[in-house]
Amino acid sequence: MNIKLAPSLLAADFSRLGEEVKNIEEAGADYLHLDVMDGHLVPNLSFGGPVLQSLRGQSNMVFDAHLMISEPHKYVESFAKAGADIITIHVECDSDIGETLDKIHALGKKAGLALNPDAELSRAVPYFDKIDMLLIMSVYAGFGGQSYINDVNDKIREARRLLGPDFDIQVDGGVYLHNLHVPVEAGANVIVAGSAVFGSDDPAQAVRDFKA
Ligand code: DX5
Ligand code: ZN
Repeated sequence: MNIKLAPSLLAADFSRLGEEVKNIEEAGADYLHLDVMDGHLVPNLSFGGPVLQSLRGQSNMVFDAHLMISEPHKYVESFAKAGADIITIHVECDSDIGETLDKIHALGKKAGLALNPDAELSRAVPYFDKIDMLLIMSVYAGFGGQSYINDVNDKIREARRLLGPDFDIQVDGGVYLHNLHVPVEAGANVIVAGSAVFGSDDPAQAVRDFKA
C-alpha cells in the first residue's frame, strides 16, 4: 500500500508559514493538510481561504483542506478557487452532504468525508460513491496535540474492508512515530501529523523519519 504523509499546518509557526511549507515539501511530505475551523462546528478558530491562496503560490504539494465548518456548501467554491486539491467535509456539518460532495466534484476537486470518533461508519456509507477519501478522526476535531483514540481502530479496519485495498483512508489526530504503526496496521494509508512534524525541533527530519 502506498502510505502518504500529510503534515498539518495547524502546528506550524504561523509567522513563517511559507518557509515551514517549503521545508516539509523538500523533505518529501505528500500532502499539506490544512485545518479550517469556524468556531461553530468545532470550538476553535484557525484560518481560511486567504491562507491557502497565499501558500498556493509557494508550493506544488497536494493541498488537503479539512473543513471543520458547519456550512461547507457555502464555502467549497472559495476553497477550490484558493487552491485546495482535496476538500473534506464533516458528516456532522449542517449542509446537505451529498449536494456538497457533488459541488466539490463539479469544481474539479477531490472530495473527502470526515467522521468524528463517535460517528458510526454507517453515516458515511451512503456517500461512498461520492468520495475520493474517507477521513477517520482519531481525536475529536478542533485542536491539535490531543491523544490518539484507539477505539477508532475497528472503524478503520471496517472501512478498509468495505472500501477495498486502493481507496484512500485518512487518519487525523494524535499520530506520532511511536504509534504510527497503529493506524497503518488497521488499514489507514493517508496519515495526518501536526504536532509530530511541526511541533518537533526539526520538521524536515520528522517528515523523513515518518516516510522511512
Ligand atoms: C484536529 C485537526 C488535526 C490536528 C492534528 O482538529 O483536524 O489535523 O491538527 O494535530 P496533531 O497531529 O497534533 O494531533
Ligand atoms: Zn485535520
